[in-house]
Amino acid sequence: MTPEQRQEIIRLLEKGEELSPEWARILFPPEKREYELVYHGKEREEDILANTLAVPLQPVRTFGSNGDWSNMLIFGDNLQVMKSLLEMKKAGRLCNADGTPGVRLIYIDPPFATKQEFRGSQDQKAYQDKIAGAQFLEFLRKRLVFLRELLSDDGSIYVHLDCKKIHYVKILLLDELLSEQNFRNEIVIRRTQKNYLEGDSIKSLNVGNDSLLIYAKTYDTQFKPVFRQEKRMEPWHAFDAPNWSGTRPNLIYELFGHMPPPNRCWVWVKEKANKAIKEGKLRPNPNTGKPEYLIPARDKVLCTNLWDDLNAYSFSSGYPTEKNETLLHRVVEMASNKGDIIFDCFAGSGTTLAVAEKLGRGWIGVDCGKLAIYTMQKRLLNISESKDLENPNKKYNKHCKPFTLYNAGLYDFSRLKELSWDSWRFFALQLFQCRDEPHTIGGIKLGGYLKGASVLVFNHMKEKGVRIDEETIESLHEALGTRIGNRLFIIAPALTFDFQQDYITLGNVRYYALRIPYSIINELHQREFTCLKQPSDEMAVNDTVEAVGFDFIRTPELKFECGIRKGKGDTQDTAYIKIKTFKSEAVVREPMRKKGNLETFSMVMLDYDFDDNSQVFDLDAVFYADALEKDGWALNFPIDSTGKKIMAVFIDIYGNEARIVIEPEQFGISSPKKKKGK
Ligand SMILES: C[S@@+](CC[C@H](N)C(=O)[O-])C[C@H]1O[C@@H](n2cnc3c(N)ncnc32)[C@H](O)[C@@H]1O
Repeated sequence: MTPEQRQEIIRLLEKGEELSPEWARILFPPEKREYELVYHGKEREEDILANTLAVPLQPVRTFGSNGDWSNMLIFGDNLQVMKSLLEMKKAGRLCNADGTPGVRLIYIDPPFATKQEFRGSQDQKAYQDKIAGAQFLEFLRKRLVFLRELLSDDGSIYVHLDCKKIHYVKILLLDELLSEQNFRNEIVIRRTQKNYLEGDSIKSLNVGNDSLLIYAKTYDTQFKPVFRQEKRMEPWHAFDAPNWSGTRPNLIYELFGHMPPPNRCWVWVKEKANKAIKEGKLRPNPNTGKPEYLIPARDKVLCTNLWDDLNAYSFSSGYPTEKNETLLHRVVEMASNKGDIIFDCFAGSGTTLAVAEKLGRGWIGVDCGKLAIYTMQKRLLNISESKDLENPNKKYNKHCKPFTLYNAGLYDFSRLKELSWDSWRFFALQLFQCRDEPHTIGGIKLGGYLKGASVLVFNHMKEKGVRIDEETIESLHEALGTRIGNRLFIIAPALTFDFQQDYITLGNVRYYALRIPYSIINELHQREFTCLKQPSDEMAVNDTVEAVGFDFIRTPELKFECGIRKGKGDTQDTAYIKIKTFKSEAVVREPMRKKGNLETFSMVMLDYDFDDNSQVFDLDAVFYADALEKDGWALNFPIDSTGKKIMAVFIDIYGNEARIVIEPEQFGISSPKKKKGK
């Protein structure tokens, strides 16, 4: 650091100003590694860990009765969620059944789509792809930093990749973050191929594989060998073997009218051969008459890293890019024991979770897509109907163990009021990234610290009806005096504050109002908050999505009409729901940008036979905005699909939902046409 830089830092600190992130490399130079690969936008690991916002997990619903541990299905951006999970690990609340802290096994299948459209020359396109490539790598690297921290010391991570990204991810990310010494295998898995015809002209050969890169957290990590079903079609083998030395006369005799060929002998001595003939294990070949013997097919052989006996993909849930349960079965068997926690932060249709569940492991799944969340919820709640892993001709036939669905980063304010004081206090501190460290100054109980200054979490439950106005601040000021430093943060529900300003200054002290839900004070946040974006077409389901910060649920405004369209001629009547108005806004993250009708619409999901008693939304169909727009914003479906009631969940791009339940009469259907028999 130069003397000028040192002076500048002192000046900034004395003025009480924040140091911008550019100072980080100067203050904390990266350790001098033998070599380090750099690329555009690469952040320091320490900064990633420190600067990621932790978003509290708000339980939405627990399915099944809750014991000590309930598995976790989390809706939110995985980076922010992992920061919260890491806090759980540090607090000893994230442990495998044998007590080891962290998660034993991580499987991830990150999206690789870099759907950046760029209309320019080939050169420009290549350049654009490189930028998108570096952004993708940094997106994944940040997550891998947290994944490594979440792993237990004897855990392992499996990263599913295709041929386009695997080399970058191995060398630039995994070898550096988890160390080259901890690389254990590259597994090659079969994937289905396109069909070319002889005579077609092609630019490259078909890619017939995906890959799994396996890294152990430490040298101590052990795996279990895994086996595959042997595919040996012909169990009968010729009965002769080499007779190298020519000194095995007891293996040379006539059998079924044949002598062994020159320089060869039979496999067994005469007595053993006669016994085998009686048992039907040695016979003359039906065509040549030469002796052949039965080698009992071993049903299992040890797996190598070539897993071409199974397919990477499956299409059972209808979710794009769904992976195969047989693949995950092998991974989970190889790298975990019953009771271990398995984590997938790109959970998609929930293959990892379903397999973990079936194999008696605990699980945590995260996804930022509402479609993924409802696909997983359905898959887990109906798991008893799915195939058994050991015997795919049978059903699994067991119910799912309890799991809790959480929101992380998009909160239901009305339900926050149901929290106990302790939970509210914890939630409030986490929401504004405060350190939970109770202390008392001037007889006033304070909850913790934010940016070095004290935080007061106002107990609106104890002091019902009490408002925080300028007088309250004055009396606080008197009690705290100069011992409080030059700032105090007060967190309370927005309606408790009787003034509008972000802060009130008394003497040298600024009293900041941190309002729940609405308060975003830009100077407190280094980065602008950004929303999760829900996809509007099927292609976008697998996009990389990044969200920073939190928001509060605001139900979109929805107006619709529904009815029956008469089929012409032989065609069947169809039911339709036509969206007339759909408007929504993000409260905190994009407060200024009001969008026009239907501009924020992402998709609608249907449960054709909604069960009023359980009140569980059981996803049957999804319609994306781009397709609906082409159909004049009407979704059509066969009347036959409908049960007693239909539930439709309309999702906006921020992840807010407008739910409606429609009875058949509203369509003009007199009695339910079909029962799904839930
Ligand atoms: C390739 S899919 C995973 C498929 C999954 N293995 C299966 O078997 O269905 C990738 C998933 O990552 C999710 N995703 C992308 N960015 C994310 C983020 N920042 N946080 C959480 N999930 C994310 C997408 O919504 C998508 O469901």
